[in-house]
Amino acid sequence: MNVLLIGAGAREHALAWKLARSPILQKLYIAPGNPGTAECGINVDIPVSNFPAIAQLVRKESIHLVVVGPEEPLANGIRDFFRDQDDLDWVGVIGPDRSGARLESSKDFAKQFMIRNGIPTAHHQTFTTANEHEAGDFIQSLTPPYVLKADGLAAGKGVLIVEDPDQALMEIHQMFNGKFGVAGSKVVVEEFLQGIELSVFILTDGESYLLLPEAKDYKRIGEGDTGSNTGGMGAVSPVPFADATFIEKVKQRIIEPTINGLKSEQIDYQGFIFFGLMNVNGDPYVIEYNVRMGDPESEVVIPRLETDLLDLFKAVKERRLKDKAVEISQEAAATIMLVSQGYPGTYEKGFPINGIGHIEDGLVFHAGTIRKDGQLMTNGGRVLALTAMDHSWTLALAKAYEMARLVKFHGMYHRKDIGFDL
Ligand code: AMP
Ligand code: GLY
Repeated sequence: MNVLLIGAGAREHALAWKLARSPILQKLYIAPGNPGTAECGINVDIPVSNFPAIAQLVRKESIHLVVVGPEEPLANGIRDFFRDQDDLDWVGVIGPDRSGARLESSKDFAKQFMIRNGIPTAHHQTFTTANEHEAGDFIQSLTPPYVLKADGLAAGKGVLIVEDPDQALMEIHQMFNGKFGVAGSKVVVEEFLQGIELSVFILTDGESYLLLPEAKDYKRIGEGDTGSNTGGMGAVSPVPFADATFIEKVKQRIIEPTINGLKSEQIDYQGFIFFGLMNVNGDPYVIEYNVRMGDPESEVVIPRLETDLLDLFKAVKERRLKDKAVEISQEAAATIMLVSQGYPGTYEKGFPINGIGHIEDGLVFHAGTIRKDGQLMTNGGRVLALTAMDHSWTLALAKAYEMARLVKFHGMYHRKDIGFDL
């Protein structure tokens, strides 16, 4: 089968790497891809939300399945677009339609969905300019710190955690005044959950689901989880505290009510669901839903899958996922993100990357790179994800740090304490 993968980051490189190993793959196209995905298939220079151009490619190359990496095209309705084209409505799309993508594209929708379906999450209230005057009372009812979330997509930057109630009110006001653009025209204010985070993933065909390996992501730029939020600085899988008892609670209290809720609300969901969870004294709470795989979580989750991922995607398209199982490697995986100096603020790009050829054991997933006249250069904040596997996550991590020693580019930075809290 011919497959088109949408996206350009290390998550997509990990997906492309895995799909390229499938015995049922004929041709793999990636739009727009990066120098890493170019080693797994054919990159096509089309932006992720140019649906007419994507549709043209699908027609021209007889593509059977479109796998959507990032959230933006899903929130913009790529699945709806294909459904509405008479000659393309048979093409499989891995990723929900616009109504399902609201789990990620509207935090207010996600909270209401969780309340309707009895899914444990932080206590919250949603504000707009119409009820802004009630925000003070709600904030007074909470124990600090206060969690303020812009309702819409804000590239992972729309969440503020504030200690002072007056500052919280001021920040809410600034969100209404466009601090995060239109994403902040509604603001979710919620209780702060004290615990340790992890990411849990499923693949669903709308009827049944398969649980994928869980992972732990490190979002802050600085060691000890300090400084600004980033897209993610490293990850490990499995997560030691996610034992069978905890995962059983996640299934019963969160995953199954989510699948049943989608069904009962007539949201036909085919794709990944990423549950951002907080483990509060052994009980899981949903911090957020994402309607895609995580990045850098994919760089540790995908390498642990022993099952043919394309065969699973085919089963999703045909709604036969209940006949399938996932085999997961007993080995652990760890990934270290190499980033440009200054990230997640301003940074320079265009520096040559050297040393990848010296890596003998491990996977190098490209995030922000570009190839110019044969030379690989930096081309983004997050540049490369270095993944290693071994018998335990500590051994895998040590190997990933070995890999990091071999790679060089001007201003290269990475966190040296991934896994410090496990
Ligand atoms: P989100 O974009 O919803 O994942 O939020 C970004 C980060 O803010 C999360 O990864 C958490 O570290 C933190 N966060 C969000 N909501 C809460 C909450 N209710 N309690 C504690 N931390 C939170
Ligand atoms: N690593 C977090 C995310 O992909 O949203």
